[in-house]
Amino acid sequence: MTLPSSQFPDLRDRGVLVTGGGSGIGAALVEAFARQGARVAFVDIAAESSLALCEKVAAQTGQAPHFIQADLRNVEAVRAAADEAVAKLGSVRVLVNNAARDDRQGLEAVTEESWDESLSVNLRHLFFMCQAVAPHMQRQGGGSIVNFSSIAFLLNMPEIPAYSTAKAGIIGL
Ligand SMILES: NC(=O)c1ccc[n+]([C@@H]2O[C@H](COP(=O)([O-])OP(=O)(O)OC[C@H]3O[C@@H](n4cnc5c(N)ncnc54)[C@H](O)[C@@H]3O)[C@@H](O)[C@H]2O)c1
Repeated sequence: MTLPSSQFPDLRDRGVLVTGGGSGIGAALVEAFARQGARVAFVDIAAESSLALCEKVAAQTGQAPHFIQADLRNVEAVRAAADEAVAKLGSVRVLVNNAARDDRQGLEAVTEESWDESLSVNLRHLFFMCQAVAPHMQRQGGGSIVNFSSIAFLLNMPEIPAYSTAKAGIIGL
């Protein structure tokens, strides 16, 4: 038996931007917002899974989400993606900063480069996406920003020190 899903009328026609929406939890969010009648854009570095998701959601809801291919490690690309989402959706009232990459690399293996890489893929873009989207939300009278952390940093996991640091930083943000 398929149960009817809940409907949240305040999401109908809302502009929603999800980062890392091409697969995993982000893809489930893109689908779920689209089923609520929201106008959804998502950013992802991976084209294949993202385009497949667009087709799937279009078949389910009659409307494809707007896919923006971008590497969120690049701050200029973050700003351009925010502008593209606002232009495409008219406004962004919900931002879900979800994109991350939990590379396994323990204490001895971490280098300056891999540390910076982890913080750029797991922390930096969240701030710059907030900074880019917040003025649009303010002009629209408000909005919601959801930043994805992880309980990983509470668990003392030895194989992901940089990821855990980034996820703890998101709590500060
Ligand atoms: N899966 C879990 O068990 C778990 C647990 C705690 C927290 N989280 C958090 O939930 C969020 C989603 O997790 P997930 O398991 O769905 O992750 P995932 O790895 O399945 O998906 C992440 C998405 O981000 C995209 N991405 C990665 N690097 C990118 C980049 N440089 N530019 C643009 N897009 C990029 C990937 O292509 C992918 O589509 C993350 O923030 C993660 O830290 C997940």
